[in-house]
Amino acid sequence: MTLPKTIVKSFLTLTALIGTVVSTLRIKVMPSRTSLVAASHYMHPYLLRIRDIPHKVSCKFFSSYPRLFWDIWSFSFVYDPEQLALHDWNIKAVDLILDAKPSSVLEVGCGFGRNISYMIDCGYEPGVITGVDLSRMMLRQARIRLRGSKVKLVRANACDLPFQDHSFDAVFLSLVLMHIKPSNLKLAFDEAIRVAKRLIVILDEYQPVPATSLSLPINRYTYAHDHVRILELYGISPAMYTKYIYDKWIVILISLEDRS
Ligand SMILES: C[S@@+](CC[C@H](N)C(=O)[O-])C[C@H]1O[C@@H](n2cnc3c(N)ncnc32)[C@H](O)[C@@H]1O
Repeated sequence: MTLPKTIVKSFLTLTALIGTVVSTLRIKVMPSRTSLVAASHYMHPYLLRIRDIPHKVSCKFFSSYPRLFWDIWSFSFVYDPEQLALHDWNIKAVDLILDAKPSSVLEVGCGFGRNISYMIDCGYEPGVITGVDLSRMMLRQARIRLRGSKVKLVRANACDLPFQDHSFDAVFLSLVLMHIKPSNLKLAFDEAIRVAKRLIVILDEYQPVPATSLSLPINRYTYAHDHVRILELYGISPAMYTKYIYDKWIVILISLEDRS
């Protein structure tokens, strides 16, 4: 059964109006947020539900304008139980880093700081943690969450990190490569390898990718990458990494100790 267009349109308009009023009220307790962006927080699930846009097209669009996407999504992201939770795969990835007792950690695409907070809760020294994110709004959320800690937060792109070679003992890419378009993936890998001294840990979405390609758009803003083939292509031999698979998620520990 299809609903008449006018009913759908009126429903969306009404939702947007209610959303705008609610967001505007919430702004009073969440300073420095504009009503326009907050309203778009309520609108974006509807925008993302535009069914006719194939994933291939929308994925290409959003991953070409990642800042826009993440700035808008940051508002709902911090209230999303899925994003707030520490799942087995999040814990595994962080534990792999902490087990290596790194003298410094860089999290690329740190979002609102879920992993960094967990590292601090585990007793890791916040003064040696740096978080990088492309989105100013996400970093704002991270600053609120990590208020009072000595974590350094920097706005930068995973594909162009403003750090010297081998500046961090460990580099962590958690749920960020899956949002990087295939044509930029090598840049992001190269940057992680360049700034890392001892190890890189990757947590990413894991889904089968046909042999004909290395990456596949799997929803409106997510790619499934064939990490194993990509690592091989980028000169990371199987002896250099260990992978752990949790249903839809993959955690990869890459050791750079023996790199030439
Ligand atoms: C799904 S969130 C993951 C957040 C965090 N790593 C976690 O595991 O909770 C992805 C984050 O990566 C950031 N991001 C996306 N593309 C990026 C890029 N090219 N450079 C830096 N950060 C990026 C987004 O702004 C967002 O905060």
